[in-house]
Amino acid sequence: MNKTSLLIVASVLFFCTTTMKSQTSCVTDAILSTYSARNFTTKPVTDSQIETILKCGIKAPSARNSQMWKFTVVKSSTLLSELMPNITTGNILIIVSGQDANQPGMNVAFDCALATENMYLAAQNLGLGAHIYMAPVSGINSRKQDLGIPDGYSVITVLRIGNVDQGVDAVSSASPRNSLEEVVNYR
Ligand SMILES: Cc1cc2nc3c(=O)[nH]c(=O)nc-3n(C[C@H](O)[C@H](O)[C@H](O)COP(=O)(O)O)c2cc1C
Repeated sequence: MNKTSLLIVASVLFFCTTTMKSQTSCVTDAILSTYSARNFTTKPVTDSQIETILKCGIKAPSARNSQMWKFTVVKSSTLLSELMPNITTGNILIIVSGQDANQPGMNVAFDCALATENMYLAAQNLGLGAHIYMAPVSGINSRKQDLGIPDGYSVITVLRIGNVDQGVDAVSSASPRNSLEEVVNYR
């Protein structure tokens, strides 16, 4: 191998390792700095942000790649205040519904949870705040027709997304977690 080829190989290796490193730290940093937003501003979420978040949702893995989920984006201010009375203007809800069709080796609610987490992280990575809710699920399930949620699907969870005050310290806003020593065992 001549000098020029060696130089090219070394440059490619350097580029790959530095790029891979920064991608890894980007994802882990994002996960470690998430928290459930509780104070939103009235600045609206844009359609392009919503589309990116939804693309991250459908990218989630699912058992046998069955993708038995539907996402309902609620932007109507009337509907929003009916579903979540104290919601801040400019927020949106993404309702995640799963097909009522579990088979052995599948768990639709689990798949929906993975999609929800992808969208939760995506929203925060776009500089938005996000909060997962289960409490409104039964109320929303009784309004499936108004929301265009098809028969045979049930609401699993609700994701609230909005703009947040960027001055808030994300790490100290998160609720404390049990320590690794309490949660993990090694054998
Ligand atoms: C499946 C699920 C359901 C949740 N339901 C609610 C809810 O109904 N109301 C609420 O205020 N927060 C809800 N949360 C948010 C949790 O309370 C929050 O993630 C937890 O307290 C940790 O806080 P942090 O994300 O700010 O660190 C829910 C979270 C998950 C994952």
